[in-house]
Amino acid sequence: MTPHADSPMDTSDSRSLAVQEAFTSFATNGFDETHIPGFGNRSHLRYTPEDELHDLVCVGFGPASLAIAVALHDALDGTDPSLDMPSLQNRPPRVAFLEKQPQFAWHAGMLLPGARMQITFMKDMATLRNPRSEFTFLNYLFQKDRLVEFTNLNTFLPQRVEYEDYMKWCACWFEEVVQYDQEVVKVMPERSPSGDGEIASFTVVSQNLQTGKMETRRTKHVVIAAGGRPNLPPPFPSNHPKVIHSSKFSYISTEILPDFQRPYNVAVVGNGQSAAEIFDFLHAHYPNARTWLLIKGGALRPSDDSPFVNEIFNPGRVESTFNRDPELRSCTIKEDRNTNYGVVRLNLIEHIYETLYLQRIRYGNSPEAEEQWPHRVMPHRCVTEVQDSPVVKGGIRLFVRDQSPLYLSDAPNAQEGSEILDVDAVFVATGYHRDLHETLLKDARHLMPGGDLKDAKWQVQRDYSVHFADKHVSEDAGVWLQGCCESTHGLSDTLLSILATRAGQMVKSIFGKSGDWDGIDALGYEELRN
Ligand SMILES: Cc1cc2nc3c(=O)[nH]c(=O)nc-3n(C[C@H](O)[C@H](O)[C@H](O)COP(=O)(O)OP(=O)(O)OC[C@H]3O[C@@H](n4cnc5c(N)ncnc54)[C@H](O)[C@@H]3O)c2cc1C
Ligand SMILES: NC(=O)c1ccc[n+]([C@@H]2O[C@H](COP(=O)([O-])OP(=O)(O)OC[C@H]3O[C@@H](n4cnc5c(N)ncnc54)[C@H](OP(=O)(O)O)[C@@H]3O)[C@@H](O)[C@H]2O)c1
Repeated sequence: MTPHADSPMDTSDSRSLAVQEAFTSFATNGFDETHIPGFGNRSHLRYTPEDELHDLVCVGFGPASLAIAVALHDALDGTDPSLDMPSLQNRPPRVAFLEKQPQFAWHAGMLLPGARMQITFMKDMATLRNPRSEFTFLNYLFQKDRLVEFTNLNTFLPQRVEYEDYMKWCACWFEEVVQYDQEVVKVMPERSPSGDGEIASFTVVSQNLQTGKMETRRTKHVVIAAGGRPNLPPPFPSNHPKVIHSSKFSYISTEILPDFQRPYNVAVVGNGQSAAEIFDFLHAHYPNARTWLLIKGGALRPSDDSPFVNEIFNPGRVESTFNRDPELRSCTIKEDRNTNYGVVRLNLIEHIYETLYLQRIRYGNSPEAEEQWPHRVMPHRCVTEVQDSPVVKGGIRLFVRDQSPLYLSDAPNAQEGSEILDVDAVFVATGYHRDLHETLLKDARHLMPGGDLKDAKWQVQRDYSVHFADKHVSEDAGVWLQGCCESTHGLSDTLLSILATRAGQMVKSIFGKSGDWDGIDALGYEELRN
């Protein structure tokens, strides 16, 4: 435990006094006071002017970066003995988080009514690393005065809307160090001024989405935690107003399907949780619509969240996964894919099955009647071509390969068929790519071990730091990747499962070795801590 953990940080009066003192010295440095949130929820991290060399710039402020902010706060707060680092006692870390969204939002395009978490709330931003942190989900409930009522829900799986609110609550503590509306476009290595050729820092270039202007921040360390970008595979066009990736569903569906009573025709593609949730939403909210869920396989399959299997998401499993023989690792990750990808929670599958079953009563149970059902799950389907529809105004025509006869026909030697679907909109729930770092780090490729080889991808070490060629990057600088290391660190990498512990490891990895900090106390840091 850090020494100041014993000090009276935990009384709100002493904190607000200390914070005000820190703030006074800060504001005189020319900081725009309007950016400072209310004192009630102010973390120990302080704003750093853009033109100062930063210790850390995080690209993206989603849950992965938020967990890092929380871990840094806990380290400064002294509530987490595992993060007791002398280097952090000298002066406040100069950090900034750059987020392209205008405010904190967690997959808001898929925030559908009733959608639940896929993971226990215990795997929040702090609990598994430091249950005494201020940032636990339970403390959030307590602060919001809902702790007792939440316990009556008798669940570990809150609705997504509540969990997003929890993360927004956490995020608002860090307003001072987060710049929203900043889209990072590249991360450039900078040579050391000493002339030894080593890279000593990085320049993070971002576009201010409000002004359109480019901004730069220099930093010793960069964390790239940009999440996934929508995968829109061929033949789906990327810029058609009626072909929408699931990640934008909530934003756009009511624009293109504005009348809930209209008999729209809508297709949904994919067999993961997103596709199933969208299909179910359309059924529930558009009672007169016809909806088709086109899936590659034979059936919607349940995600395996049984307890023995779930152990692959234990924080402690990352080590063995990383150290496993690469071929074996890739086999085991493939074997466990049905914990997360292309699968649906069992209760939603059961609900959808019941919805379809009710159509058997209302519209008939024969194969011919089934073809007329308003809501259908169509197995063994693959969209081969997308055109503008000649029959649905402003709509699209899907050409679909139908392999279901090969699997389901009673006749011998059945052949695959084809179908044409004319729809008002298609929602493409085909998952995400997690490779933005490859684009952002383009200007650093000459630093790859072996040089800039065609098709080479960035590799990370166990602590998520990018593997640069020996002696090309100074020891007190580097780039870390979060959420795109599944192939080396395992299936928990893209999820919330290990964020709290991983963020602690990141803080240690980045700040644990910087023992030679200058100890400047420009922000009244001592007052804040004592
Ligand atoms: C609908 C949905 C629900 C999910 N539910 C669960 C769940 O219940 N449990 C679970 O464990 N996992 C869930 N996941 C998985 C999800 O990956 C994690 O919950 C979590 O969002 C990962 O956090 P992250 O910070 O790595 O990525 P993200 O949440 O994607 O955050 C990345 C952030 O970086 C920002 N960004 C991207 N590019 C840039 C750029 N160039 N410049 C600046 N900012 C940028 C993005 O705007 C975003 O805010 C869900 C995923 C989806 C799509
Ligand atoms: N309520 C929630 O908490 C919630 C809601 C939604 C999503 N999520 C999470 O978000 C993550 C992503 O889920 P997701 O459903 O968006 O994506 P996903 O699990 O990656 O599923 C994408 C699906 O699209 C299919 N697909 C890919 N390319 C295709 C193509 N060309 N044609 C037809 N199908 C194609 C994939 O099939 P193959 O697998 O065969 O490639 C897969 O079934 C998961 O972690 C999930 O748990 C959570």
